[in-house]
Amino acid sequence: MADEVTVNIRLESAIVYARQKGRELAAELGFSQSELTIIATAISELARNIVDYAGNGQIIMQLIEKDGQKGIMIKAQDNGPGIPDIELAMQDGYSTGNSLGLGLPGTKRLMDEFEIDSKVGQGTTVTVIKWKRNDINFKI
Ligand SMILES: Nc1ncnc2c1ncn2[C@@H]1O[C@H](COP(=O)(O)OP(=O)(O)OP(=O)(O)O)[C@@H](O)[C@H]1O
Ligand SMILES: [Mg+2]
Repeated sequence: MADEVTVNIRLESAIVYARQKGRELAAELGFSQSELTIIATAISELARNIVDYAGNGQIIMQLIEKDGQKGIMIKAQDNGPGIPDIELAMQDGYSTGNSLGLGLPGTKRLMDEFEIDSKVGQGTTVTVIKWKRNDINFKI
């Protein structure tokens, strides 16, 4: 499998597909089952926001390496309406969609790095990274 996958997001089915592809890609790095679930959850939340608020966009998933540490970077981008107040959107419980308002703040808590860039009338890009914990070998 290539170390980068892009999924166009418009329909519900694409959310499921992106989630599955991200899980497969991350599995290549040897993430644990619970970490894979965390990564898949982050992908779902970001993809769902694209469907709900922007209509369409892309999820780009890439295996990365920095200072000998491996990880997966997920970029969710759209050319939708943008977010007028990012600080507000990042608060637990804030939703313009009559939903729980936990997608963005929850994703931030689940991932190691989280960056959001949004401009009204231009679109939104959310970039998140999960680093693979270094394996600990207990020698006896
Ligand atoms: N891609 C996006 N484009 C435009 N607005 C967005 C986008 N993603 C999030 N938002 C705005 O930020 C708010 C908060 O997003 P968040 O994912 O945290 O909550 P939610 O989608 O409303 O509810 P939940 O994710 O819990 O179902 C949204 O209600 C929406 O107003
Ligand atoms: Mg959401």
